[in-house]
Amino acid sequence: MHAAVVRSFDRPPRFEEFAVPVPGEGRLPVEMIAAGLHPRVRSGADGTHYTSDGRLPLIPGVDGVGRLPDGQVVYFVAGDGDPGTMAERSVVDPRRAVPLPDGADPVTIAAAMNPAMSSWVALRRRIAFRPGQGVLVLGATGNAGRMAVQIARHLGAGRVVAAGRDPERLALLDGLGATDVVSLAGDPDQADARLGEAAADVDVVLDYTWGGPTERALPAVLTRRADRSAPLDWIEIGSMAGREITLPSAVLRAAALRLMGSGQGSVTARGIVAELPGLMAELTRGTLTADARPVPLADVEEAWTAPVEPGRRLVLTVSA
Ligand SMILES: NC(=O)c1ccc[n+]([C@@H]2O[C@H](COP(=O)([O-])OP(=O)(O)OC[C@H]3O[C@@H](n4cnc5c(N)ncnc54)[C@H](OP(=O)(O)O)[C@@H]3O)[C@@H](O)[C@H]2O)c1
Repeated sequence: MHAAVVRSFDRPPRFEEFAVPVPGEGRLPVEMIAAGLHPRVRSGADGTHYTSDGRLPLIPGVDGVGRLPDGQVVYFVAGDGDPGTMAERSVVDPRRAVPLPDGADPVTIAAAMNPAMSSWVALRRRIAFRPGQGVLVLGATGNAGRMAVQIARHLGAGRVVAAGRDPERLALLDGLGATDVVSLAGDPDQADARLGEAAADVDVVLDYTWGGPTERALPAVLTRRADRSAPLDWIEIGSMAGREITLPSAVLRAAALRLMGSGQGSVTARGIVAELPGLMAELTRGTLTADARPVPLADVEEAWTAPVEPGRRLVLTVSA
């Protein structure tokens, strides 16, 4: 078969011949149709993800859409230690696979499930989110952030404050359910004031940035709360701006901050899989919109480093 193959962590994968993976116990073979090029896939392929064991060669790809031997088309999340999904064939743990609903577009599903799952699972599995609550999406201009805005509204948020840098992507969020849009660009003190005023009294923060923007947003929001004892669930989901923060102790004392993360580990694999059908149904219905750009798997090397329009997700496709 052919696959995207990483042979060195400092070079993009190349389209090469590779041995067909042999399914181990509890796995099924799958013919791949589409796999998304998510940030998590890039960090796996350049060896910087925390799960990277440094072994090469590897096939990147953490999820995708494929056809099982019985003809069923499924979305699945690759199991720990299983080969990647950017190949003509891979393997599936059936416990991590769900059938695509009728009418679902495999490319849209492959593009959207990973970014959409991040907020869907956080709001449904990490906290007791209630309709009417206010949500701040920190880093709302990426694929996951834009989905988070739509999903928060869909799940009943009363207010959604969308904060990010890219002005064009920010402008689109109004039409997708944001009630307030805050630019994090420009003078940092002024950006803090804008953010603090708009988001002072939210109940939940979905944080895709971490690093510097989070270090500034925490005091900006907490110190402006009308009722500092009102709980604020701050959910760390992504780390686009840094892997670490410095957290002054006063921040934790100053307000009823509940700091947590959401992702594999903090939610069980079974819990995540249980959320997939509901999310896929909304994507298929068109309640949630995604911006996918399909690229043939054979073009992976070029596509990997080519500039991508912000907010668009590359999807590598295998022709039947
Ligand atoms: N835990 C989970 O379950 C889960 C699931 C999916 C994704 N994630 C994580 O979520 C994050 C976002 O994923 P994605 O798919 O949305 O990626 P993406 O589409 O590539 O978007 C990333 C966005 O991050 C923003 N950004 C980068 N540096 C920034 C900075 N210094 N300050 C503010 N914004 C910054 C950029 O927005 P601007 O252009 O506006 O700067 C960019 O659009 C990643 O870290 C990913 O690994 C987590």
